[in-house]
Formats: sequence, C-alpha cells, structure tokens
Amino acid sequence: MTQVTEVDHPLVRHHLTRLRARETTPHEFRSLLRQLSSLLAYEATADLTAYPVSIQTPLTSMMGTQVTAKVALVPILRAGLGMVDPILDLVPHAEVWHLGVYRDETTAKPVEYYNKLPQTQPPDVVFLLDPMLATGGSACMAISAIQRWGVGSIKLLSVIASRDGVKAVTDQFPGTQIFVGQIDPDLNHHKYIVPGLGDAGDRTFNTLRYLG
Ligand code: PRP
Ligand code: URA
Repeated sequence: MTQVTEVDHPLVRHHLTRLRARETTPHEFRSLLRQLSSLLAYEATADLTAYPVSIQTPLTSMMGTQVTAKVALVPILRAGLGMVDPILDLVPHAEVWHLGVYRDETTAKPVEYYNKLPQTQPPDVVFLLDPMLATGGSACMAISAIQRWGVGSIKLLSVIASRDGVKAVTDQFPGTQIFVGQIDPDLNHHKYIVPGLGDAGDRTFNTLRYLG
C-alpha cells in the first residue's frame, strides 16, 4: 500500500495555483478548497468497501454497488472545516467529528482545545481533514486521538504538505495514509510552508491581519 499519494492531476495543479496566489479572495479561496477537497477525496475513497446490491431500474433488474464502509470525517479546526461539505457530498452517510488544535504562535507546537471524539464503536475509516501539513505536529496530535478511539484505518487529506510534515507523520504513524495535492520543499523560521499559501484558516475565514 502506498503511504503517501501526491495527487498528480492537471486540475489539482490548476486550482492549487489559484489557491496559493496572494490576491485570491476568501470567497474564491473557499470555493477552490472545496474543489481540491473533492479531488483528493476521489483518490482517498478508491478502496472503500462496497457490496453488490440488487435494484430495479424502470426497465429491468440489475446488480449495482453500495458502499458499506462506516466512514467518519474528522476536520481539524479551523481550516479543516472548509473540506467537510464537499466530502460529505461524495460520502453522504459519513459521520463528522470535530477536533480543535491550534499552533502556539511562539513555539509552533500544537495545542488541543476541543475534542468530542466519542467513546462508542469506532468507524471503519477516518478521513482526517486539514489543508496544511507543516511541521506535522497538529496532524500527529490528531492521529493519536483518533487511534485512542480505536480506529484502524486513518487517511489524512491535506492540500499542501511540507517534506518535514510528511516525514513526521510517516515516521510516527507508519500506518496512516496521506493524500496531498502538492508537497512543498521548505518551512520558514515561523514554520510556515514555503512556497505554501500563508495561513489557511485566516484565508478561509477572512481573518487575515498580516501576509508576511
Ligand atoms: C494550521 C493548519 C494546521 C496546522 C499545520 O492551523 O490548519 O492545523 O496549522 O501546522 P503544523 O503541521 O505545524 O501543526 P492553525 O494552527 O493556524 O489554526 P487555525 O486553523 O485555527 O488557523
Ligand atoms: N498553518 C498554515 O495555515 N499554513 C502554514 O504554512 C503552516 C501552518
């Protein structure tokens, strides 16, 4: 099983280019994030369990297919919220559970501030949603929480990842699959991805005060 999939598709590259551009407005940013989330989810859902079902069309009977996997989406607040709706459109029976993690501004270390994962029967697969995988600290904290829930299959969907972030997740959680739009080479001294797109949460929710 390939653990890291960089989804190499002209539409991914096209939408990512607009997403990264400094002049892209929050309105367009949210729309692009939705489109990119659908493209990543198309790849990430390719191995969902499905069973044959018998149906009647208006003309005849036939065997079709029904996805039976119990799926949960776990967005990391805030920026992961922008990825939920397009994936729910593709997987309407999915559950959604929220995790709140922010990076401390001085240390860039993750701080968990909201965790409502249930204690009940875990799903078959979790799609962990966060557009940015920078140092990997937030994703690793989230994966630990999801593993404590008892989930066996975790797929992390990120629009942009740094090389360091991918390495952090694959080193600490070798069973986690990563689906990413593009892997960027660097982190700057504030631990922002370079070239990146800046702060995904701020650009999604129009709370940008500084674009360094
Ligand atoms: C961003 C991003 C990730 C995290 C990535 O969130 O959405 O959660 O940083 O960085 P890491 O890989 O180094 O942990 P942020 O902390 O800015 O919170 P926000 O979504 O509320 O803006
Ligand atoms: N969080 C973001 O939103 N962007 C980065 O480049 C790093 C962390």
